[in-house]
Amino acid sequence: MSLPALRAAFAALTLSLSTMLNPVLAGDVVDTHSYANSAEVRTSHLALDFEVDFAKSRLKGLAEIQFQRLKPDADRIVLDTRALDVRSAEASSDGKTWTATKFALGSDDAVLGRPLTVMLPAAATRVRIGYFTRPEASGLQWLKPAQTAGKKRPFLFSQSQAIHARSWIPLQDSPAVRATYEARVKTPKGLRAVMSAEMSEQRDAAGRWTFRMPQPIPSYLIAIAVGDIAFQSLGARTGVYAEPAMLKAAAWEFAETETTVALCEKLFGPYRWGRYDLLVLPPSFPYGGMENPRLTFLTPTVITGDRGLVALIAHELAHSWSGNLVTNATWEDFWLNEGFTEYLTYRLTEAQFGTARGDMERVIGVADLKTDLGLAKSDEDRKLVRAYPSKDPDEVFSTIPYQRGALFLVYLETKFGREAFDAFLRGWFDAHAFQSATSPQFLAFLDEKLLKAKPGVVSQAEIDAWVSSPTLPADAVYASSDALAKVEAARDAWLAGKTPISAMAAGHWTVQEWEHFFEGFPTTASAAQLKELDAAFKLTGNGNAIIASHWYRLAIKAGQTDSVLPAMTEYLARVGRMKLISPIYRALAATDAGRAQANAIYKKLGPGYHPIAQQALERILAGS
Ligand code: BES
Ligand code: ZN
Repeated sequence: MSLPALRAAFAALTLSLSTMLNPVLAGDVVDTHSYANSAEVRTSHLALDFEVDFAKSRLKGLAEIQFQRLKPDADRIVLDTRALDVRSAEASSDGKTWTATKFALGSDDAVLGRPLTVMLPAAATRVRIGYFTRPEASGLQWLKPAQTAGKKRPFLFSQSQAIHARSWIPLQDSPAVRATYEARVKTPKGLRAVMSAEMSEQRDAAGRWTFRMPQPIPSYLIAIAVGDIAFQSLGARTGVYAEPAMLKAAAWEFAETETTVALCEKLFGPYRWGRYDLLVLPPSFPYGGMENPRLTFLTPTVITGDRGLVALIAHELAHSWSGNLVTNATWEDFWLNEGFTEYLTYRLTEAQFGTARGDMERVIGVADLKTDLGLAKSDEDRKLVRAYPSKDPDEVFSTIPYQRGALFLVYLETKFGREAFDAFLRGWFDAHAFQSATSPQFLAFLDEKLLKAKPGVVSQAEIDAWVSSPTLPADAVYASSDALAKVEAARDAWLAGKTPISAMAAGHWTVQEWEHFFEGFPTTASAAQLKELDAAFKLTGNGNAIIASHWYRLAIKAGQTDSVLPAMTEYLARVGRMKLISPIYRALAATDAGRAQANAIYKKLGPGYHPIAQQALERILAGS
């Protein structure tokens, strides 16, 4: 080895060693899911440049990171990366003159990726990294034309939450770090790019789409999609983007969005993000929705033709307060995002569609919670705030932070009264707007503004039980739903042979009623009963993805897999939303024969799933 090469190797080694020894700090928050040295050098603005290459399934990226030095003599910035091919690093003090600077990638961690350390000249205020993403980037899905509604053009979309932004942008990937951003995106002819930012209607002179996010946001909210995307306005501040083939149905389904935004403002304070648009993705989108600011990403499985699932829009919109405005500082504080958002969603649903519908959603939420408490691997996973961080934030994902968090807030609302609690909530959002917050910060705020201000209502011990007990407190407040009780009664009467199947008015049931019908369905039902059910309501191959998912699970558990197999396989080939397909794979994997079937199906379909869904399904099939 030549002397310069040896020197370079040594520099790389000391760089990566110092990164490993450097705990991850942002302010006084420890984020174990990021390598970034954000307590020393903190990103303030990103300027991103992308070229979208569908033939190679990769982005060519140039990411400029502007930063502040919290530690004046800091001589390096540490970024998060995952599966990035880094080509160059340059530094600049004015954004005009750039000079090459030393950089080194640390060792690879399966969950966290590789730290990228970039040396900073004393006067530097920004660095820029030239890189390529890889086809397997965990935060991107590259779709073939056949996986889209139009079947003619490819499609690309990102999913950055929780720690996947680093797989398409080298950055300080911690929700405790907020930055504004701008971006330019070059796309193939005829394909439009959209991002979670203010968007230009046309390409710039160089043929690129341009974007600007003037509010500081955490990295997990940076989002992009590219495809044959059309737009339809829904109201003054709202609209929907979708493939042309989906646009009309989407616009009808989501026609009430403008009203929901207005209601949200009435309940929780001003909407601070300008526009609120929706983007309907192809069916492989692994989530129901993702609250990317100004542009919620949505699964097409919510387009059911009856506006029955619009609570999902309310949920993603509510994140404009709980999550995007006040953000969980680490992934251990996830309930601050999702528990609050579920609570706000119940309030919104109730305000927009009445208490009966709100209560229905609450009852289903609690049923989901009980299912997940049962599935949880340890008592630690059952708590609202876990004592120690998870290795992989995706792995512990469940409805527990959502529903336990919402129940906690319902409890507080009940104890202190709606009026006082609403003022408290608004106070929380206002006091922490555009900041990231931890659970202890919330609990201190609660203590000061409610517990101490109104003594004798709730004790510290009661709060502690909500936060750190694996069981649900005995005085949790549960909703009840007449409509769901009726569904249960009708189902049980039919199952007991007391009434004919025609006595179930299921033709008029909402999706929520169907969910409840399946939720408590006994495994003791006979094959003949399942057959009768399928014949009466055409469940196999049902066009409603939620009903179909529940039905396939039931059929598998009842040992009737073979009768649904062709339709179910077609379903599993089309839908990639984890909440709908994971339980099917899990039900299959519960028996040896089923596991073999699941493996065979997955072997064929796996490559078509989103990388995040692939990981989740592989965990299920491995029995972990
Ligand atoms: N932010 C979540 C989705 C998410 C969570 C993505 C964690 C990655 C990691 C989103 O707001 C959400 O909760 N979506 C739900 C919808 C729902 C509860 C109405 C979903 O996708 O099912
Ligand atoms: Zn959410």
